[in-house]
Amino acid sequence: MDNRPIGVFDSGLGGLTAVRRLIHEMPNENIIYFGDTGRVPYGNRSRETIFRYAAQDVNFLRTFDLKAIVIACGTVSSIALKPLSQMHDLPIFGVVNPTALRAAHCTKNNRIGIIATQATINTGAYEHIIAEENPDAQLFSTPCPLFVPLVENGRTQPGDVVIETVVADYLQPLKDAGIDTLILGCTHYPLLSQVIGNFMGPEVRLLDSGAEVADQIGRWMDQKDLRADPEQSGQCRWYVSDGTENFHHLGSIFLGREITEPVEQISIENY
Ligand code: DGL
Repeated sequence: MDNRPIGVFDSGLGGLTAVRRLIHEMPNENIIYFGDTGRVPYGNRSRETIFRYAAQDVNFLRTFDLKAIVIACGTVSSIALKPLSQMHDLPIFGVVNPTALRAAHCTKNNRIGIIATQATINTGAYEHIIAEENPDAQLFSTPCPLFVPLVENGRTQPGDVVIETVVADYLQPLKDAGIDTLILGCTHYPLLSQVIGNFMGPEVRLLDSGAEVADQIGRWMDQKDLRADPEQSGQCRWYVSDGTENFHHLGSIFLGREITEPVEQISIENY
């Protein structure tokens, strides 16, 4: 048993969709979340900048005594998981690996779509893993740079003509390609599941990378006997790098439950 918290971070609030899955899968775990809201989005920045930001995010989380860190960001996972894991003597989990493996094995027609930030698509991270795991798979990747700003502005609901138009524009080629599996390769995108699902149709399975990493961590904790006390109810602590005014309102939408705990602003440049 290990009651130390799991540290989770993202460029902004998108990682809260992964926290939602972690809480659902493991309600006894304590979680410390950092959202780099002062510097979001990461997805259209250079590799060097994304790595520098991610290293600071991990340094901040390491001021706590953690049992593991989850990079709840597709962009950081695809660029920085390996170097960060080499720099730290702590298990660090990214969202790309478990999601790519799931896609490689769950597709029935071997036609897989990947949507993510420009930076993630540029790395080819999902593509490499899937190609190794399932050489017969045909992959169709599309960067969706407008999704993160729209989601961070709450434009997520069916009936919102702006998001519906952007979704149709980005996803039409994937629909035409006849994919049966679509990787939501950015942790902001589960907020668009309904709009994307309506557009793609029920025959296309949407993969939420937060759910996949939660599954992976659950298995890891079971193997190592690291789950928290089953009698306790897990507590969450929240940190951001920009003003805290909007965190409770917007964060609650991402998390899928009301955030009642206080949130603290930190100066991430100091880490
Ligand atoms: N949630 C991040 C990801 O999964 C967001 C991207 C961004 O900051 O652009 O890639």
